Amino acid sequence: MSEPLGVALIGCGTVGGGVAHVLLAHAERVAQRAARPIALRRVVVRDPSKPRDPLIPRDIITTDISSALHDSSVQVVVELIGGTTVAKKVVLDALAAGKHVVTANKALLADSGSEVFEAARKAERTVCFEAAVAGGVPVIRALGESLAANQVTAIQAILNGTSNFILTAMAERGLSYSSALAEAQKLGYAEADPTLDVDGSDAAHKLAILAQISFGVAAKPHEIARQGIDTIDAMDIRFANELGYTIKLLAEAWTSEEARNAERGMRNKNNGQEPSSVPSSALRAPRSVALHVAPVLLRHTDLLAQVRGAYNAVLVYGDVVGETLYQGPGAGRMPTASSVVADLIDLGVGRAQRTFAAARLWSREGRGFTVEPPERVRSRFYLRLLVADKPGVLADITRILADEEISISSLVQHEAQEDGSGAPVPLVIVTHYAATGRFRKALEKINRLTTTSAPAVFFSMGD
Ligand code: NAP
Ligand code: HSE
Repeated sequence: MSEPLGVALIGCGTVGGGVAHVLLAHAERVAQRAARPIALRRVVVRDPSKPRDPLIPRDIITTDISSALHDSSVQVVVELIGGTTVAKKVVLDALAAGKHVVTANKALLADSGSEVFEAARKAERTVCFEAAVAGGVPVIRALGESLAANQVTAIQAILNGTSNFILTAMAERGLSYSSALAEAQKLGYAEADPTLDVDGSDAAHKLAILAQISFGVAAKPHEIARQGIDTIDAMDIRFANELGYTIKLLAEAWTSEEARNAERGMRNKNNGQEPSSVPSSALRAPRSVALHVAPVLLRHTDLLAQVRGAYNAVLVYGDVVGETLYQGPGAGRMPTASSVVADLIDLGVGRAQRTFAAARLWSREGRGFTVEPPERVRSRFYLRLLVADKPGVLADITRILADEEISISSLVQHEAQEDGSGAPVPLVIVTHYAATGRFRKALEKINRLTTTSAPAVFFSMGD
């Protein structure tokens, strides 16, 4: 067997702890797959007094990042501390010191992918990041390697395990939003700052990475229209259910509206059971891609509606293959460690270095795609208002929608409680297709009505 591949683990929390465990508990298996031992040389943490996996030798635990990065017995630095400041320095310093890098840090890649990958190319080193998107689901390899013969035309994905866990717990167990979030945190799914999970940022970071691999675009945060699950009330989940829908936080990329409609229709018709045909739009090399993250109402029968808990799922449409689906645990200690260790094995074998060099990710070369402004994306919408129960209210709202050429598909209003309280009542409107920009204009006017007592809540419809 060849010389060991020496690893410095920077960060040994939820994910890092899992990685250390796999490397130490399954050392023989890992060595066989990598055709050489993978040796854990250093484990860098913030607080060395915290209890760690008993398999980790005490004498390799340190707080000294620099000495780990410059250790000559280390060939790979695994960055698992998170965030975009210290982590960025760790990654750039590691590359400058001639080490390969493995990271699960999607925020860092979405923010500074160009800089990080340029530094890697300059240093002739490799950056691996399978764990950065969809945790234990090997979607980076699927897109970058297995689907290499395709031009991807659309992606629809559940990319944030925490949000999906919260929505499932609210819908199925009747948990409140805050207790579901607390449970997700306890289970190690959430980011150190869980706002990133629930406001859609984490899913947007992951979508930016998928968009780079699939379309060669380096999307800036403002180019990804983003809405999180933090505006969803238990009553929205109930109304959606009543209408035959489940609410999911979806990250989506569409190369054209035609591709989107063809593929959505195709999925609903086939329900994933039959092979799908190539949409004609996919063959015409579209020039732009729309990227957005938002709660979407999916029919109960939709494949993605059935993805529960912290699971992620990624539907990818390729112009050669048609529709493919990748699904599995999207967050948590061991699923994420599974992807990190796979990257280490690929580096050990020498595969990762070749793939990295060929892919030229985040280079200036692009592939002719631009990011489409989110206002032009068209959708059907679910709109939930709290309105005064009196004559003329509905007429005011429908007039505003009509002024923006938005037509109504269905409407739900339950009879008000006869308690004489005059409390506002929920009114739910589902629209036909409308441009996001015009819908938002209508919302602004509706929110100014004196008869609406809280800002309108809206989500797009998946069909
Ligand atoms: P975590 O549990 O908070 O662990 C962070 C680790 O980094 C801890 O060991 C901490 O040390 C160490 N650390 C933080 N700041 C440090 C510093 N300045 N110097 C040295 N060590 C420092 O985080 P995590 O959940 O494992 O996430 C790590 C990364 O993986 C993040 O980028 C996250 O987005 C990504 N990720 C997480 C998941 C998941 O399910 N959790 C899934 C996919 C990707 P102490 O232990 O001493 O506090
Ligand atoms: N906080 C992230 C999530 C971890 O919940 O999906 C996996 O990237």
